[in-house]
Amino acid sequence: MTVATQKYEPPYISNQNPLAPGVALDPFPLYKQLREMGPVVWLEPLGVWGVFRDAMVRQLITDQVLFTNVGGTGLQNYFRDTPWREPSPVLEVDPPDHTRIRSMLARVLSPGAINKLKSKFVVEAKTIVARLIEMREFDGVADFAKAFPVKVFLDAVGVADKDRDNVLVYNDLVRKSRTVRLSDWPPEDREAAEDIAGWLAGFCSRENVVPGSFGSQIYEAVDAGEISEHEGNLLVRTFISAGTETTIAAIAQTLFYLATNPDQWAIVRRDTSKVRAAFEETLRFDPPAQILGRCARDDFDWEGVRIGKHDKILGFASAANRDPARWLEPDRYLITRDGVGHLGLGTGIHGCVGQMLARLQADVLLTALASEVESIAIAGTPVRTPSAFRGFKSLPVSITPAT
Ligand code: HEM
Repeated sequence: MTVATQKYEPPYISNQNPLAPGVALDPFPLYKQLREMGPVVWLEPLGVWGVFRDAMVRQLITDQVLFTNVGGTGLQNYFRDTPWREPSPVLEVDPPDHTRIRSMLARVLSPGAINKLKSKFVVEAKTIVARLIEMREFDGVADFAKAFPVKVFLDAVGVADKDRDNVLVYNDLVRKSRTVRLSDWPPEDREAAEDIAGWLAGFCSRENVVPGSFGSQIYEAVDAGEISEHEGNLLVRTFISAGTETTIAAIAQTLFYLATNPDQWAIVRRDTSKVRAAFEETLRFDPPAQILGRCARDDFDWEGVRIGKHDKILGFASAANRDPARWLEPDRYLITRDGVGHLGLGTGIHGCVGQMLARLQADVLLTALASEVESIAIAGTPVRTPSAFRGFKSLPVSITPAT
């Protein structure tokens, strides 16, 4: 495995690994230290550059002249390592291919198409919350956050009902690929990656998607000659990997921050239309997608630091979202702030194409909860997922229903 070779001593070097499992429990003190260290920091344990300031992360993900997505958007560098899976045909490409695929996806995920799902989503959300009220104590991941994206979202994508938990197994590997170098994966994970890639291709195939779903519309674009059959298959895969884990994590994170900030929950209780603001503040305060990676197209000087051709640079969205140069009181969870401009959904041409669908799911689920529940409390020790997609493995919660 080759990592970026440094021909000179970078001015800002850190021996810390912000993606290490221990750090993931509370990465914010280290993010602050690295943000203050310099504009572009060489992360020695990872062999990549890191940027932690809002302006730098923003430039990294929007400047198509200096940076490319073709080398992958996680820790792996496809210019130097063999990709662990076939790259995404939308996230891991540049224009003009990106423009062609993105415009098709934007059409499939149009506001009109998403609005049509709303009434079904509302019914489902009310059913989930009614069950939780009977339970009183539940797991905020398995019983609340996961129940929705794995059921209604995957129904909307149109994939088969059975074996959906395999999607989450695949997502665990995606998470791992974003934080752990492939050379450090145990052989069983490499084998699992190969097995599941084969299974997923079948799961996402044309024969297995339901007519009228987002998946079948992607195959209609294949029939219209806009994309190839293979791209269609990979795009259904992109939907289910980009759309499930992130949404589960974002909903669970919002539940956690509302439970641990009762004054903010009180605002939502008084006016349930504020659930949207709570979701946005979560995406600023502690977004599921912590890193947004790019590679340098060529050698260049960035803020006085020499970057090498095809070097990997990781933009830490969650560090940028707490940059005091951009946000007032960045370390406070305040749903009343104007959160426009956070990087929790990325920005620019690769900004999240599924964001309206994610917001709709969070809106209906949290509105159903805030309408029926007086208070929420953490009822045990939450277990966090490793970094890259920040969320919870389990989140014990108890609720008091409204009278
Ligand atoms: C709260 C939930 C979600 C979060 C936090 C999230 C986060 C993100 C982020 C940060 C990016 C930009 C990545 C980068 O620039 O490197 C992105 C892109 C993307 N997201 Fe989401 N996402 C969410 C939900 C969804 C859903 C529901 C879908 C599918 C319907 C989806 C599909 C995509 C796709 C296809 C891209 C690539 C877009 C492109 O390259 O043009 N996401 N997402």
